[in-house]
Amino acid sequence: MSLEEFRLLRDLVYEHAGLVYDESALMLFDRRLGERLEALGLPSYQAYYKYLRFDAHNQSEMEEALERLTTKETYFFRQEYQLRAFQAELLPRLEQANARSRRLLVWSAGCSTGEEAYTIAALILESARFDGWDVRVIGTDLSRHCVAHARRGVYQASSLRATSAKDKARYFFELEDGFHVADSVKKLCQFGQMNLFDSGRGNLVGRVDAIFCRNVLIYFDVRSRKRVIDNLYQRLCPGGYLMLGHSESLLNLSTAFELVHLRDDLVYRRPVGAGGLA
Ligand SMILES: C[S@@+](CC[C@H](N)C(=O)[O-])C[C@H]1O[C@@H](n2cnc3c(N)ncnc32)[C@H](O)[C@@H]1O
Repeated sequence: MSLEEFRLLRDLVYEHAGLVYDESALMLFDRRLGERLEALGLPSYQAYYKYLRFDAHNQSEMEEALERLTTKETYFFRQEYQLRAFQAELLPRLEQANARSRRLLVWSAGCSTGEEAYTIAALILESARFDGWDVRVIGTDLSRHCVAHARRGVYQASSLRATSAKDKARYFFELEDGFHVADSVKKLCQFGQMNLFDSGRGNLVGRVDAIFCRNVLIYFDVRSRKRVIDNLYQRLCPGGYLMLGHSESLLNLSTAFELVHLRDDLVYRRPVGAGGLA
């Protein structure tokens, strides 16, 4: 792959999904996309670029390319201090705020293979605050493979590396093919494919009370981050919360979110007085 070819492909990926790669990623592109060239019988990356940009099948091929280029790393109970803060401090507030509607909707945006969404559902169940409520956790990801995996809900031991023995016993049952998520947790979760960079698609999720968008924005630049954050803002109910990954913040982004100091974490909130949905 020449530098020129890399730049063409990289800019196309940015346009489509907001993901940013510097020139040190040339080798990665070459390694991961090489087999697509072979599969399509194309002679060069220049030809692959043209295929991605102009061919009738470009949409599905772009998904194939992104499948290979994105980082999907995730596991159950990741960044547990934040999850516990959500459970101990935000769930009681949401219980109070939604006491009339008895409805709770949480979105795991960029959920990869679903571990984050299932963890959130397990914490909601464990809180025992929402029995008889309409509770849903929606997981979305750019990758169709990840969404299919999430829907299956079967995981290998590495996904449970931060799961305590107690939680393992409570929320999983082990079969030959791996650890299956318990039905009580699984039935609260729904999964779908969605590009967070695509503002129109956010509407599919509807209004939610809380969003976890963790370890996704690190792959974006300021411009694409701002676009995604604005989309997330529009999807939150006034008073709803946004949780980011531990190395992510809204610093340097002018957004309408307000910062909320919890005992062990900082989260963001759409101000209560901030109008309805756009
Ligand atoms: C590192 S994983 C994070 C998974 C999980 N949130 C966690 O913290 O464990 C990042 C995920 O973001 C997804 N992603 C990257 N760009 C995206 C986009 N534009 N729209 C939706 N998902 C995206 C990737 O497919 C990947 O599954």
